[in-house]
Amino acid sequence: MTTNRVLIFDTTLRDGEQSPGATMSHDEKLEIAQLLDEMGVDIIEAGFPIASEGDFRAVTEIAKAARNATICGLARANYKDIDRCWEAVRHARSPRIHTFIGTSPQHRAIPNLDMDQMAERIHDTVSHARNLCDNIQWSPMDATRTEADYLCRTVEIAIKAGATTINIPDTVGYTAPRESANLIRMLLERVPGADKIIFATHCHNDLGMATANALAAVEGGARQIECTINGLGERAGNTALEEVVMALKVRHDIMPFTTGVDTTRIMNISRRVATVSGFAVQFNKAIVGKNAFAHESGIHQDGMLKSADTFEIMRPTDIGLAETNLVMGKHSGRAALRAKLRDLGFDMADNQLNDVFVRFKDLADRKKEVYDDDLIALVRQNDGAEDRLRLKHLRVVCGTEGPQTADLTLEIDGVDQQTIATGDGPVDATFKAVKTLFQTQARLQLYQVSAVTEGTDAQATVSVRLEEDGRIATGQSADTDTVVASAKAYVNALNRLLVRRSQTQPDYDVKGVSYKDANA
Ligand code: KIV
Ligand code: ZN
Repeated sequence: MTTNRVLIFDTTLRDGEQSPGATMSHDEKLEIAQLLDEMGVDIIEAGFPIASEGDFRAVTEIAKAARNATICGLARANYKDIDRCWEAVRHARSPRIHTFIGTSPQHRAIPNLDMDQMAERIHDTVSHARNLCDNIQWSPMDATRTEADYLCRTVEIAIKAGATTINIPDTVGYTAPRESANLIRMLLERVPGADKIIFATHCHNDLGMATANALAAVEGGARQIECTINGLGERAGNTALEEVVMALKVRHDIMPFTTGVDTTRIMNISRRVATVSGFAVQFNKAIVGKNAFAHESGIHQDGMLKSADTFEIMRPTDIGLAETNLVMGKHSGRAALRAKLRDLGFDMADNQLNDVFVRFKDLADRKKEVYDDDLIALVRQNDGAEDRLRLKHLRVVCGTEGPQTADLTLEIDGVDQQTIATGDGPVDATFKAVKTLFQTQARLQLYQVSAVTEGTDAQATVSVRLEEDGRIATGQSADTDTVVASAKAYVNALNRLLVRRSQTQPDYDVKGVSYKDANA
């Protein structure tokens, strides 16, 4: 199909979320899907429905909620997977089944199938999927290491069986740009019917070439790019959505392709994915890194003052960063705060604004300058109105002479309870105190601290992820005192876990299958 429109297929919730440690809760997945839908992503791969009850439920609810995007689920090459996938995605306004099998010699060695038997399996499973749904994507996993003749043969079979999109995955991040482009060209030239379907490119970043490989594939004729926000994904990750979308926008002169993505929403979703996945964005990450638009060296600043395009090839506003980082302080009023938050992409109802305003005043009393990132951290904190647990008091003794001790009071269901605990460091002592007062089997999966802004009075943002019986809850807090932020984040995670406990379904089954078992 010759068009200059490139479809953006986001797999943050499937390939991204499958990366160890990046597990998201059910509500977080729904929130990310909504942001993707609103930003103009064409296809959202919402999960792998057979993998667990949690994945099935997430894909089902995302399918029901999506307003614009096609909702896709992943299925291995067997009827059970495909049926389960269809059960989940069929609720979507525009559903898609994505089925796949590993075709390279390395992957073919796993099942007891020879080349002919695998070809037959591809025919049968794609036909089965096509009988359920009009929109079928098929992937020969590890395509870039599959023999060219066999790849052409399997792609032809899948097209004849009804696949409407053929995805060419570089599963192990092995290919390079010229090869990536030539592979798509070769398939377009050699495979009968290839001009009737869309070729997709799905690259992993093991050699740091995922973005370049995806763009090269587009030059070779691919019209769908598979990617994730912040390049989230196993090992070195997937192609980063923000990189391919901005590359196509900024270098439209040499890559005349368009996407449907509203780039001004990039920063917001990038921050949200970093927060809920617990995978912080490296400072020098292209497009969304903290330093991507920072110009600190003297020469750069001089150039920037004369003309922004001396050193900038895109404007911060293109990705949704406010033009200026106007500092707010304790004299700033409610109207200024509302305007500022609107600039940052938060349109708040009056009651929400009042709540953030109280916290803003409190912070401004403790911190001379309140920056954009401080405000974002404030907005992200909940008001705690429904919480069963609240931090009332914390005093910590720490330093070179131990023991590190935390004296902590928690309000639990309206009753104050106090204890003193010691630990390996102030955070450990604090968490032990919380656990003494509120006993739980929850396992700490992630504890992460980052400074919101510069300076020694910067707020620390702390993320804590807990897991209990397949239920996951992520808590967050920000405070100029790192230990207080840690205690609040831990308590916040516990409150969320209590809510999750009252919901029947876990976020994932402990016995969930992995897409790596494709050929098992
Ligand atoms: O990397 C890969 O091969 C995949 C497939 C399931 C498309 O993620
Ligand atoms: Zn992948």
